Amino acid sequence: MPDTLTSTGGPARSAADGYDIEAVRKDFPVLERTVGDHPLVYLDSANTSQKPRQVIEAITDFYAHHNANVARAMHLLGAEATAAYEGARAKIAGFLGAADPREVIYTKNASEALNLAANTLGSRLGPGDEVVVSVMEHHSNLVPWQLVCQRTGATLRWFDVTEEGRLDLAKAEAEGLVNERTKVVAITRQSNVLGTINPVTTVARMAHAVGAVLVIDASQSVPQLTTDVQAWEADLVAFTGHKMLGPTGLGVLWGRYDLLEQLPPFLGGGEMIEVVRMEGSTYAPPPYRFEAGTPPIAETVMLAAAIDYLNGIGMDHIAAHEQRITDLALKRLADVKGLRILGPTEAVDRGGAISFTLEGVHPHDVMTMLDARGVAVRGGHHCARPLHDRFGIQSSTRASFYLYTTEQEIEALAEALDHTRDFFDRPRSASRTRHREAGAAARTRRGDSRVAPQARLVEEQE
Ligand SMILES: Cc1ncc(COP(=O)(O)O)c(C=O)c1O
Repeated sequence: MPDTLTSTGGPARSAADGYDIEAVRKDFPVLERTVGDHPLVYLDSANTSQKPRQVIEAITDFYAHHNANVARAMHLLGAEATAAYEGARAKIAGFLGAADPREVIYTKNASEALNLAANTLGSRLGPGDEVVVSVMEHHSNLVPWQLVCQRTGATLRWFDVTEEGRLDLAKAEAEGLVNERTKVVAITRQSNVLGTINPVTTVARMAHAVGAVLVIDASQSVPQLTTDVQAWEADLVAFTGHKMLGPTGLGVLWGRYDLLEQLPPFLGGGEMIEVVRMEGSTYAPPPYRFEAGTPPIAETVMLAAAIDYLNGIGMDHIAAHEQRITDLALKRLADVKGLRILGPTEAVDRGGAISFTLEGVHPHDVMTMLDARGVAVRGGHHCARPLHDRFGIQSSTRASFYLYTTEQEIEALAEALDHTRDFFDRPRSASRTRHREAGAAARTRRGDSRVAPQARLVEEQE
C-alpha cells in the first residue's frame, strides 16, 4: 500500500542545477490567468498560496477512486482511505522533523490548532500565572490566549518589537518578561506582516528555563523554510495547509508526545474516545484524543501531495528563491517615492512578505489600483491590529511572494505603485479623470459596471 494515494502527478523536477522557475510556474494553472489585459501577478501568497496541478489532481484522484471514511469502515475503500490518511500523517511528521507521526494532530486550520493549544494548556492556568505572546502575533495566536486568560484569571503579557520590527529581546530581559510566573510562551516563527523571522530556539530556552511551555505559530515559515521542531526545542507548533500549496480546511498542531499525553481533550465526539458510558468517558491516546468526528480526509491526501511537491523541488531551493526575490523587492521598493516599509529592510532573517504604506494613499485604494493592473496584494491590518497600532498606523498594503514569484512580477508591482502614487499626486483639476480611472479600475477587476466600494471612497474623498 503506498503511503499516499497520489497516483497522478508526482514531485516536480529536481532543481539541483538551478531553480527552474518557468517549469515551476507551468505547474500552476491559475498563473495563466489574465486580469483585463494584464497577466495575473499573484502577490498574496502569505494570505493563501496557489496550488500546483499535482496537488489538484491528488484530491480528484482520492474522491474518484478511494473515497471512504477513515478508521471505522471495514472494507477495501475504508482501508485505502485510512492508509492514505495515516500515510499523510507520517509524511507531515517527516517534513517537520518530528520524532513520531503520533505527534501530528489534524485540525481545521492554524487558528483551530492554536485554540486547541490554548484551551488544553488553559486547564493548567489560574490567577497569578502568566502567558507571554508578542505584539507581532496574528490574531489567531493572540485572541485564543486572551480568551483563556479571561477564563482562568491568568495575565497576558507580551514581547515588544524594535523600530526595525525585530523581537525586542533586550527589553524583555530588562522587564523580566519571562519569569517564574510564566506558564506559556506563544510566539510566531515568522511575522505575516513584517516578515521577521524570530529566534525561536532562544525563546524556547527562555521559556524552558522557567518551566514554561513554548507554542510556535509557524504558519508563515513552514511553506518557505525547512522546519525542524526538535532543533527548535519547541513543545507545540501550529501551521495551516493552504499557505503551503495544500488545501483549505486542514491545519496541524504538532506536539511533543509526552506533553500531548498529559493534555485533556479539546472537542468531544466520535473517534476521540476510549470507552463511553452514561456516567462518563475515557479518552483515546494522542493524536486521536484531539480529532473528534470525521476529519478532513481528502485534504490530508492533498497536503501529502503538496509536501511531495515541495520536497521534489527542495526546501533549500525554495528558501533561497524566496530570499532572492525578497532582496530584489526590498531594493526595488526603496525606489518608490513615499513608500515606507514596515519591518526589516534587508533580506536577513526575513521572509517574503513585505508590508508598506504609500504616503497619502489608503491601502484599500492601493489594492484597488494594483488589482486593475493585474497585481493582487492585500490591504488592511492583516489580522495583526496591535502590531499596526504599535507602528502608529491603522493598516498597510502587503505584497507576499512564493516559489512561483518572478523578478518581472516584482517590477510589475513597483511600476503599478509608481503609477498609483502619480495618480494620487495629480493636481485637483485632474480629479474628474481620477474619478473615471478609479471607477474603471474597479470595473476592470469585476468585468461589470458596478463601482467598487474602494473606488467610491476615492470619489467621496474628492
Ligand atoms: C502567522 C499566521 N498565523 C495564523 C494564521 C491563521 O491561519 P488560518 O487562517 O489558516 O487559521 C495566519 C493566516 O493568515 C498567519 O499568517
